Amino acid sequence: MKISTFLVVAAAGTAIAIPKINDENFKNTALNAHHYWREIHCAQAVAWNDTIARAAKESVESCPQNQRHDRAGSNLSAASPPPADDDNDRWIEMTREMIHGWHEEEYKYDYAHPGTPEGTGHFTQLVWRGTTQIGCALASCKGKNMPGRLYCFYEPAGNIINDGMYAANVYPPECPHGWYGRKEKRVVFTA
Ligand SMILES: *[C@@H]1O[C@H](CO)[C@@H](O)[C@H](O)[C@H]1NC(C)=O
Ligand SMILES: *[C@@H]1O[C@H](CO)[C@@H](O)[C@H](O)[C@H]1NC(C)=O
Repeated sequence: MKISTFLVVAAAGTAIAIPKINDENFKNTALNAHHYWREIHCAQAVAWNDTIARAAKESVESCPQNQRHDRAGSNLSAASPPPADDDNDRWIEMTREMIHGWHEEEYKYDYAHPGTPEGTGHFTQLVWRGTTQIGCALASCKGKNMPGRLYCFYEPAGNIINDGMYAANVYPPECPHGWYGRKEKRVVFTA
């Protein structure tokens, strides 16, 4: 996959190609979508890490036929058809939609029985409180299943199955006073 083949830079300097890992708009879109949900689930903000993003880029650009989670601490989504190579805005929008889509798995998550029910891994990694750094990358894998791909890698990796890790890292959308999060649990006293 040679993304550079498709890179075209407009006269104004605006990239009109698949966003690269150093594209500010792409980075901010990925970070904002993470922060939106992390804040609600009492998790700290994450920092973008270029080394992690390069690892995600290497992985996503390898374009395996079937997408897979190739290391602990990865989340990926894929779309078909992919946005056009020169449609930078649509790639950015796809990034936003996919990351928000990961949160939709929350309805299957049972906070009373913390753990790894089928199909909630994207959600739990998205809001995992112990994760501090991320890096994401996009690729158009022409001729492959689900060619429009987004990979995000996380450090420290979430979804650790050890005793108590899910309870400590995946919070419901009500945060104890003074914690991260904008939705503090409000205790109302009545006389
Ligand atoms: C970014 O991630 C790499 C790979 O895990 C790590 O070695 C490095 O310390 C991180 N950078 C910062 C600024 O934390
Ligand atoms: C990302 O999502 C998948 C699928 O739900 C999940 O299996 C995986 O464990 C998640 N994240 C990590 C930490 O690899």
